[in-house]
Amino acid sequence: MDKPSYEISPWQLRWRGLDLDALRRTESTFALANGHIGLRGTFEEGEPRGLPGTYLNGFYEQRRLPYAEAGYGFPEDGQTVVNVTDGKIIRLLVEDEPLDMRYGRALEHERVLDFRSGTLRRRTVWESPTGRRVRITSERLVSFTQRAIAAINYSVEPLDDKIQLVVQSDLLANEPVVSRTADPRVAAALDKPLISDHASARGYRAVLAHHTRASDLRMAAAMDHELHLDEDNIRTEIKAEDDLARLTVAADVPKGSKLTLTKYLAYGWSSKRSSPALRSQVDAALVGALQTGWDGLLAEQRSFLDEFWDTADIEIEGDAELQQAVRFALFHVLQAGARGETRAIPAKGLTGPGYDGHAFWDTESFVLPVLTYTIPDAARDALRWRYSTLDKARARARTLCQEGAAFPWRSINGEECSGYWPAGTAAFHINADIADAVMRYLYATQDKPFESECAVELLVETARLWMSIGHHDTHGRFRIDGVTGPDEYTAVVDNNVYTNLMARRNLRAAAAVAEANPSLAHDLGVDTEEASRWRDAADDMVVLYDKELKVHPQSECFTDHARWDFHTTPAENYPLLLNYPYFDLYRKQVVKQADLVLALHLCGDEFTPEEKARNFAYYEALTVRDSSLSACTQAVMAAEVGHLELAYDYFAEAALTDLHDLHDNVQNGLHIASLAGAWMAAVAGFGGMRDHHGKLTFAPRLPPELTKIAFRMTFRGSKIGVEIRPERAAYRLYSGEPLDLSHHGDPFTLGTEPVILPIPGPPDHPTPQQPHGRAPTRRRPR
Ligand code: BGC
Repeated sequence: MDKPSYEISPWQLRWRGLDLDALRRTESTFALANGHIGLRGTFEEGEPRGLPGTYLNGFYEQRRLPYAEAGYGFPEDGQTVVNVTDGKIIRLLVEDEPLDMRYGRALEHERVLDFRSGTLRRRTVWESPTGRRVRITSERLVSFTQRAIAAINYSVEPLDDKIQLVVQSDLLANEPVVSRTADPRVAAALDKPLISDHASARGYRAVLAHHTRASDLRMAAAMDHELHLDEDNIRTEIKAEDDLARLTVAADVPKGSKLTLTKYLAYGWSSKRSSPALRSQVDAALVGALQTGWDGLLAEQRSFLDEFWDTADIEIEGDAELQQAVRFALFHVLQAGARGETRAIPAKGLTGPGYDGHAFWDTESFVLPVLTYTIPDAARDALRWRYSTLDKARARARTLCQEGAAFPWRSINGEECSGYWPAGTAAFHINADIADAVMRYLYATQDKPFESECAVELLVETARLWMSIGHHDTHGRFRIDGVTGPDEYTAVVDNNVYTNLMARRNLRAAAAVAEANPSLAHDLGVDTEEASRWRDAADDMVVLYDKELKVHPQSECFTDHARWDFHTTPAENYPLLLNYPYFDLYRKQVVKQADLVLALHLCGDEFTPEEKARNFAYYEALTVRDSSLSACTQAVMAAEVGHLELAYDYFAEAALTDLHDLHDNVQNGLHIASLAGAWMAAVAGFGGMRDHHGKLTFAPRLPPELTKIAFRMTFRGSKIGVEIRPERAAYRLYSGEPLDLSHHGDPFTLGTEPVILPIPGPPDHPTPQQPHGRAPTRRRPR
């Protein structure tokens, strides 16, 4: 067999051949999830494997956070996502030899993640060490339509003589998990986190119920099976004990015949509901899934995805690998958020234990822009999760001696879990990021119930936080001091431009919604004086500018700092945070990830085109992209200021972050924000889409390497498409009401007739330089 790797194909991710060393990586890229349940792409037989990985969104264990030196307001407890009861396991004995890909020979082996069927398929022809050959085919899904359900269709076929096959289908709790890295970002391994409450089995069905020791969350996992075999010489046994339930099936299967097992899995968890209630819930979900049947689940999955792609697809002509990567990215962003339903969207989705399973600003600033314009209900649900944690954010603000609400930098349940103040709680910008996502969603959907039930309060409480963190100085300017912006290599600074501009938007939006919803505002204690104080603070907000350099310093004194010595920094010392002390990073000009450049994108209406070009060039020379959240923003701004080839390089970097394992940590889970960034690079970068204050505008331009980018999106219930060619762009309305849009600054109305407009040439600016050794890889189309 050829050396295994991903094959390039527009709608699938296929890995042909067996490469055991690549398992950890491919378990993440082949993960299936629906925002509620996540299954890593491990083999059915359980071993060999990198990390087993079965996750339920929001299900975590709590642990004390260790501090060498304690301080007031430091969070006491951390939260870590739990690897819950594994239902993916189906072991096989061929005569008396266990199927284990480390032994015998894989005569054929391939796995395919299919973005349209929403399934992971496997096809293996295995020869046992004593020469018996079997073909194993499996297909699994985590249902988008029945959110408690996952299912696996598994077949074994003897290829030579009649063979005795024994199949064991398990539910296994407390699997041992080994963490092999010293990287502090990797999740702490948890030892036996689940305590048994119940185990029972009957017929082909079994259920295990557990709870966690410290966080006191309860869960139930259940399985049921359908067996298909022409022969009647078959024996089955089922058993359940605390941490293991197992259906065993033994059959003599002749050549040309198959043993097929369809395994249905149901998961449920709760912090409030009792164990019996959860058992009933998973029982009911199983019966529902059985009634739908395997083919029915496949059909539902397909039609859910047809609808998604019809609204969200991106087509790329001229770079087949990038085409695949962008669909892969969209598919995983959908999997991270589709059916979360008032749960967070973690930075890794439900694909691995990295970052302890925490959600960050990644959700609002990177993932929600995509979901807002492709599957807006999922964006709403993620924002409803934030809303559901508002009381905790209010309490956190009180602990910090502030008004309003202070949302956590990283969390699973809404409580702050960051033990590192400078790159944690001090990143107060997350509050404005949430407010911005709320406004974006409202503008895009005009969802009145959400506005009155959640948005007004979220905007009011975040605005109050800014009023209490910031202050008017003696010159009458409103300052926000002592905070950390998106760039975590510069911490606890005054007047971070990104934070100030986002806070300004937050304050103005809060004043506007309070005015539009007077009775709600009154209930929240907002009077006209408070709203006008918000407007004044917004108007008086400090926005730094360095007149000599003609750039915006990222924060106070930033442009006076010494520059990092990039020339003496060897390539292997990146990411810098793992090789240099923070104190040195903090006092130098070196940027981990887009910060001022992110302001150029999200608050682009605050800068002139000339300022954007100069700022972009200045920060380009300092930005090392030690975070995967950077390349996409650099792609967007490179495209805007006319560096289309550079934008294309960054687009590829964002889209291929996980497929090429660019950060060497994909085994801990995918970088969902970077995957969302692939959409951003296409739509906001080459499409030039901006949505300032609810006005949808485009300024499309292609990089020379591509002949077409076409994307679809939804806005105010209308579905539109934008097709970018080298010389012209075509806008189409697929359904819904006409929309007022603009193309390179010229307004037009998009109705039933397509609108085709010429594309002006890009602005001309000198090519910017990256820090020594940190230029992105020059993309050669594949
Ligand atoms: C980045 C943060 C991000 C976090 C989770 C860090 O490396 O600096 O901006 O929120 O990763 O993705």
